[in-house]
Amino acid sequence: MMDGKSAEKKIAKLRERIERHDRLYYIDNNPKISDAAYDELLRELEDLEEAFPDLAADDSPTKRVGAPPRSSLPPAVHLMPMLSLDSTTSADEARAFDERLRKALERDRVAYTAEPKFDGLSLELVYENGLLIRAATRGDGTTGEDVTPNVRTIRSVPLHLQGAPAPSLMSVRGEALLPLAGFRELNRRMTERGEPGFANPRNAAAGALRQLDSRITASRPLKFFAYEIMKIEGAPAPASHAGELAALTGHGFLIDYHWKECAGIEEAIDFHARLAEAREALPFEIDGVVIKADSKRDRAAVGARSRSPRWALALKFEPRREITDVEDIAVGVGRTGKLTPVALLKPVDVGGVTVSRATLHNARDLERKDVRPGDRVRIERAGDVIPAVVERIEVAGQKRSEPFSMPEQCPVCGSPVEAEGANHYCTGGLSCPAQLKRGIMHFASKGAFDIEGLGEKTIESMVDLEIIGSVADLFRLEEERLLELEGFAGKSADNLLEAIERSKEIALSRFIYALGIRNVGEHVAGLLALHYGSLDAVAAASADELTGIHEIGPEVAASVTGFFSNERNRKTVDDLLAQGVAPRPPERTAADLPLTGKTFVFTGSLEGITRGEAKGRVQALGGRVSSSVSAKTDYVVAGSDPGSKYEKAVRLGVTVLSIDEFLALLPEE
Ligand code: IVH
Repeated sequence: MMDGKSAEKKIAKLRERIERHDRLYYIDNNPKISDAAYDELLRELEDLEEAFPDLAADDSPTKRVGAPPRSSLPPAVHLMPMLSLDSTTSADEARAFDERLRKALERDRVAYTAEPKFDGLSLELVYENGLLIRAATRGDGTTGEDVTPNVRTIRSVPLHLQGAPAPSLMSVRGEALLPLAGFRELNRRMTERGEPGFANPRNAAAGALRQLDSRITASRPLKFFAYEIMKIEGAPAPASHAGELAALTGHGFLIDYHWKECAGIEEAIDFHARLAEAREALPFEIDGVVIKADSKRDRAAVGARSRSPRWALALKFEPRREITDVEDIAVGVGRTGKLTPVALLKPVDVGGVTVSRATLHNARDLERKDVRPGDRVRIERAGDVIPAVVERIEVAGQKRSEPFSMPEQCPVCGSPVEAEGANHYCTGGLSCPAQLKRGIMHFASKGAFDIEGLGEKTIESMVDLEIIGSVADLFRLEEERLLELEGFAGKSADNLLEAIERSKEIALSRFIYALGIRNVGEHVAGLLALHYGSLDAVAAASADELTGIHEIGPEVAASVTGFFSNERNRKTVDDLLAQGVAPRPPERTAADLPLTGKTFVFTGSLEGITRGEAKGRVQALGGRVSSSVSAKTDYVVAGSDPGSKYEKAVRLGVTVLSIDEFLALLPEE
């Protein structure tokens, strides 16, 4: 057996050799040894690290195989905000961008770098003293998800920076993506296992990276292209983008070679046109060109807006189009209950991705394009958006089928469908399985049942594991089933059950809001509770009665009556009550309030009370405050220096109150 000292030396040597071959293979595309010889080196290193666990290191090539699964992806705050890019498909807009920069920089020429816009997942990699310490997804730009163990498995990501000296801190931004060959292979394997497969390489890359188990990430041949140094300390910052790309290469990153220094915008536009042609032959997806001011000084001079830098522009490619036949039209139901007609297509390859479905957005779109089963259509796929039907193509002499019309019943739950503008909605609400997760989320939210500890993740797994199939099931939950969920132990399960029990005591207004009736937000729910005082009375109200309530229009009224006339919804409500949910009527209903039905307008400066207070007092007493005077106004409260509202009140014969008279009208607080 080797002693510690010589093991250390041997390990260092092996790591160096493996790294060199990694670089030759994954970065330089110029392998020098056979796969078998490489595997042998790796195995030797693994054995040694196993025998001398003290000598293991986070940046050892053996760490590329992935780590044991984690329970969640923790949040990671970025060192620098990860901005997004302005984008266009028009060369003229690129010229306008150039003009803005030239004007801001007071020069007649700005030098740019143009490079591919990679269609993958943007990542921030942080290196401390040369060591990769964190990798995070973009998230909301400020905070992303920590995917470090996963990113360590990507061979083109250096685990430690090459070339001396290493900066003390460096944040690198780039794109992780799955090359097309890897994507097709992955989808083939998934299809064989009966799994649906990914719609495009971008989703596949995101799926591979957002794994809890980094061994799965390791099994997918991801690549990482670096394109920006976001922050650098303890080493000189390159003065230009070209210099930065050279520095990144020196540190061991993979840079795509399709990039060009452009003396002006026309060269960049030209580069875009040439790359559009080269695109089809590329082994990975790009969706345009990013044009960036090359000089760091220019960048600093023009700065950034809140979401995107002023010094860069994405000049995207036109979406890819293809022609195929519609085999049928299906209707999908989204999480909001919105019905979407989808054309089921004869599968067609659109720029390397097989497309067999394309959206028709809504009934109006469907009608305008007049697409019917059997028709020939042009479809379009732009980046990662769902393919869409662009237009129908006339086929001479073809006999067409009947026009397609939207179903009257929800294809998922059978509830009546309601048209609203261009869209159609299922009225099943809480009782429609397609809307279940979202419905429960809303049900448990702050303004509704406010169930502490019942978050999105928990709800999703509960529905997926069929622990709950309706909101009423929440009140039938058993501890045993809760313990099946990730992250639930005895204590947290008890806490959740208690929170659910506590929530049964609920104000009527919150209960109504929790039902998720379309167009019924917290405010309207409050009005309904106040006006009717009981759930039965709300459920029995006619549309006519409802529109009689101030602030309730015909749309809201139709949603309310629609909801309660749906058998499934009534059953759900009954079930909730049967589980012991007890909506508490408001202490006072509208009829008891002194100012119900009265409309107030304030004008001039009020003494002794602010506008906001005055308004609040009136509303709390059931009255309404309007900003303009009409014959329907009951009172105009005039302070000093009243304006035209006062004159109008006098003209219309509306009662005018002084501020003292107004205050006298209000009961003591
Ligand atoms: S630069 C502040 N360069 O495109 C600098 N972004 O649509 C912003 N992207 O979120 C990024 N290729 O994820 C830059 N060569 C490239 C890029 C690129 C792809 C992504 C990036 C960004 C998105 C904006």
